[in-house]
Amino acid sequence: MKLATISQPFGLDQLRIIEGAEPGEPGPGELRVRIHANSLNFHDYAVVVGAIPTENNRIPMADGAGVVEAIGAGVSEFSVGDHVVSTFFPHWLNGPAPIDNFSTTPGDGVDGYARERVIRPAQGFTRAPKGYSHAEAATLTTAGLTAWRALVVNGNLKAGDTVLTLGTGGVSIFALQFAKMMGARVIATSSSDAKLERLKTLGADDTINYKTTPAWGERVLELTGGQGADHIIEVGGPGTLPESIDAVRIGGHISLIGILTGQSGDVPTRKLMAKQARLEGLIVGSRAHQQEMIRAIEANDMHPVIDRSFSLEEIADAFRYEESGAHFGKICLEF
Ligand SMILES: NC(=O)c1ccc[n+]([C@@H]2O[C@H](COP(=O)([O-])OP(=O)(O)OC[C@H]3O[C@@H](n4cnc5c(N)ncnc54)[C@H](OP(=O)(O)O)[C@@H]3O)[C@@H](O)[C@H]2O)c1
Repeated sequence: MKLATISQPFGLDQLRIIEGAEPGEPGPGELRVRIHANSLNFHDYAVVVGAIPTENNRIPMADGAGVVEAIGAGVSEFSVGDHVVSTFFPHWLNGPAPIDNFSTTPGDGVDGYARERVIRPAQGFTRAPKGYSHAEAATLTTAGLTAWRALVVNGNLKAGDTVLTLGTGGVSIFALQFAKMMGARVIATSSSDAKLERLKTLGADDTINYKTTPAWGERVLELTGGQGADHIIEVGGPGTLPESIDAVRIGGHISLIGILTGQSGDVPTRKLMAKQARLEGLIVGSRAHQQEMIRAIEANDMHPVIDRSFSLEEIADAFRYEESGAHFGKICLEF
């Protein structure tokens, strides 16, 4: 079977497609899955370029979707032929988060899903939404579930709330879609006017170009009659957090999800305190959260925005495309 590896000294030129041994038969409690798609995340990019240290010859990619080919003894939740999607934390099944690192995350602490077949414990997968392509299903593991948990699980989003999304990457577009699906108002930002037009077609109520309007926090206040946003999907980190604190409603909720602008920086703590806002870090979610999200997706026939798909052999080109920032929504590999 074909698989991709990343080897030292890391970097996109160190991605290789090789022939690996077929995995054999699943043991008790395990599934053998024919993986047909991955989706790319900023985290996968950080692993392959060496920004996050990993093992030599690691198989990258956290998100995998495909078809159950064989089941081991004792597996009753799945049948051969089921369409499934992987989970980000294979051991976090439900309840509060038990883990603050990526030691168990496929494609980082353990081998991932850039391969045609895998044997894994059944609990590392859920059913994919009915009617989804494998590529669509693969977008849910990381980006979809992060947006869902931020807004619905931790944010307790209500119809009529105002949600602010930053940029047009995978997490932010999912947040826009979930927010509209739940009856919220969305203010969305981007560096590109062309992308702002596409955000409107997805239902964004108001848009802001964060390059031409650097004080976008102030603009969010204007657009909300001085109130601010109830929820902010903070994917930027230190470079955007001060504006997000300006933009948030008194008592609002900022989900600290990403670090696109750097690892650490100054936080306007006095303003955050005065806003009495909840600044909450989070990493993806549990298997139970994923099942709840899939139930909601099916009830609403919601489909993710896939910008472009590449083949497994084109994995380095796919990451170069992500690096360019030209994408809108998700980038996938299909094989
Ligand atoms: N905590 C978690 O569980 C979790 C899960 C998934 C992702 N993340 C993190 O969330 C971040 C986004 O991930 P992703 O996979 O969605 O990335 P992505 O798809 O690569 O998103 C990149 C987009 O972010 C926007 N962007 C870049 N710099 C920005 C800035 N200064 N202000 C506003 N927007 C900016 C750009 O949108 P425009 O082109 O429209 O300007 C860019 O196209 C990353 O830091 C990632 O590590 C965290």
